[in-house]
Amino acid sequence: MKNLKSTNNNQQSVIGYVVGGGLRENLTVRLTVPAQQVQEGGFVVIESGDWLFYGLVTDLRLGATDVRFADEHSETRFPPELAKLLQGSTLYTTLEVLPALMLERGPELDSPEYTAWMQAIESGLKDEPGPLPVKTIPPHHASVRIAGAHDITDIFGKVEKKSNFVIGFTREQEHPVCLNLDKFVQRSAGVFGATGTGKSFLTRILLAGMIRYDQASLLVFDMHNEYGLDDTASDTGEAITGLRTKFPGQVRVVGLGKGALIRGNVPDFNLEFAYEDIQPQDIELLTRELNLKETTPTTMDALLTTFGPQAWFKVFKNMKSGANIVDESGKKQPAPGSVAAWANSSGVNVMAAEGLHSKLRRVFTLPYLVDEPAADSLGEIIKALEAGQHIVLSFGKHESDLDYLLVSNLLTRKIRQRWEARTNAFRSSGENEPRPLVLVVEEAHKLLNREMAAQTTFSTIARELRKYYVTLLIVDQRPSQIYDEVMSQLGTRISGWLGDDDDIRAVLSGLAGREALRGMLARLQPKEEVLILGWGVPMPLPVRSRRYNARFWEELLGKPTAKRGEEQILSELGF
Ligand SMILES: Nc1ncnc2c1ncn2[C@@H]1O[C@H](COP(=O)(O)OP(=O)(O)OP(=O)(O)O)[C@@H](O)[C@H]1O
Ligand SMILES: [Mg+2]
Repeated sequence: MKNLKSTNNNQQSVIGYVVGGGLRENLTVRLTVPAQQVQEGGFVVIESGDWLFYGLVTDLRLGATDVRFADEHSETRFPPELAKLLQGSTLYTTLEVLPALMLERGPELDSPEYTAWMQAIESGLKDEPGPLPVKTIPPHHASVRIAGAHDITDIFGKVEKKSNFVIGFTREQEHPVCLNLDKFVQRSAGVFGATGTGKSFLTRILLAGMIRYDQASLLVFDMHNEYGLDDTASDTGEAITGLRTKFPGQVRVVGLGKGALIRGNVPDFNLEFAYEDIQPQDIELLTRELNLKETTPTTMDALLTTFGPQAWFKVFKNMKSGANIVDESGKKQPAPGSVAAWANSSGVNVMAAEGLHSKLRRVFTLPYLVDEPAADSLGEIIKALEAGQHIVLSFGKHESDLDYLLVSNLLTRKIRQRWEARTNAFRSSGENEPRPLVLVVEEAHKLLNREMAAQTTFSTIARELRKYYVTLLIVDQRPSQIYDEVMSQLGTRISGWLGDDDDIRAVLSGLAGREALRGMLARLQPKEEVLILGWGVPMPLPVRSRRYNARFWEELLGKPTAKRGEEQILSELGF
């Protein structure tokens, strides 16, 4: 029989007792140990009869029974012994504790009530106790202790369970803290933090965990060529293992454009788009990038009407701009096949059409847009993802915002269509359930800012594609620039240190206790600590983030089986 009762309260770890507060204003705890033993963000347990309350230390404050004792410098006025005594009884520290969860722990193990309680659970008369949102408070003088390993597993789950993935360790006692990957991929998620705080490293860790767990396919928009292949850290010069190196059969690195190399390496295959894939909405997305005029949609509408959705882009690209001929009467006329000739014949403003043609030159000359792609690389990406493989799309030298916006949207639009169709087929005719897909977007604010969000497929995904098995993992250093509606949809948020108030506010948007959590985000250790929060985790908790190194891979994949050399075998045999 499973023992549902939490292990006994360890007297040594009691740090204080509840003296006041409430649900709205947090609990006040009088500290009975030196203040240095407790930190902001500490995970504490409050014991109250059959219930345990779990909370986070959000503030430490000095208090005095009388302000005069605090003001007096008693050390210098009284003998040391007396001063100490006086201070001990008049000066103290209080903690502010944000209560997050409560858990029924049941009667004492050896009491008769325990057997009855257990029987009620086993016969189904009573639900098995699980952590619940806090709806009440512990009484005065309930004892408070630092959470132990078993408390962490009660709340965040056991490390041994396959869907649980260690994301970091508690700050005080280094207990592992798990993220439930099943829950993680059910809704879009975000990794935040100022530049250099470890977002890319943590994302590698998360991606490796997800690949290993094998419940969703990943498509990584790898703008800076960081994730697929081995790399060297720019600050420490240390080698960084790429995901393909560790998962050679599962991860495919795709280069953008024919013959593209990724830092000198040949990718698994290359991605090219056909002119016919480009639709007016793809161009409209680039309005700011290309500084397009308000007349653009009208011109594109006319192009679409004249040439159709498949040919418009190619025909427009091939038109000549500014070419004139002189007719019989000696008048200058736009040359046949010129932009102006088409504009005149279609009743479109010539200046507007020529202006658009000239601004689109940057798009016309992109080497990864071709008339006829050498292979159906787009189809190959979709097929690989459906088959459970993972794709890292490396942008290579095409690192401009233009490339990023255009390519990620083109690809995502196709994927969205495919996954929607698959989901509908699954629902209506019982075909195979679509494989969950996670799109990983670095510098997400470029695609999901307020202005862009209405137009890009990404915001639709963030808002509603969960139903179609597609979610986002957004990685960004400026969460405040991401559209609020997208931010508030994020299930799991993992954030490193943030300095900017607006960014902090954005990460905490829509969450309970945000006032109390605000300071915590601003005081995290850069590069080493993150705050995990949101719907996907049972309660917010600052953790020391897991390190991405050889040990990580060993823990994830097991020790590499060292091939024993001939020499070693001979020596073992005694030769
Ligand atoms: N989990 C980790 N394991 C090992 N090293 C880490 C970890 N997190 C951060 N670091 C160290 O911090 C440095 C910066 O991390 P990283 O490149 O992930 O930052 P970033 O938040 O992605 O920055 P940017 O916004 O500039 O891309 C790394 O080069 C590495 O030395
Ligand atoms: Mg980074």
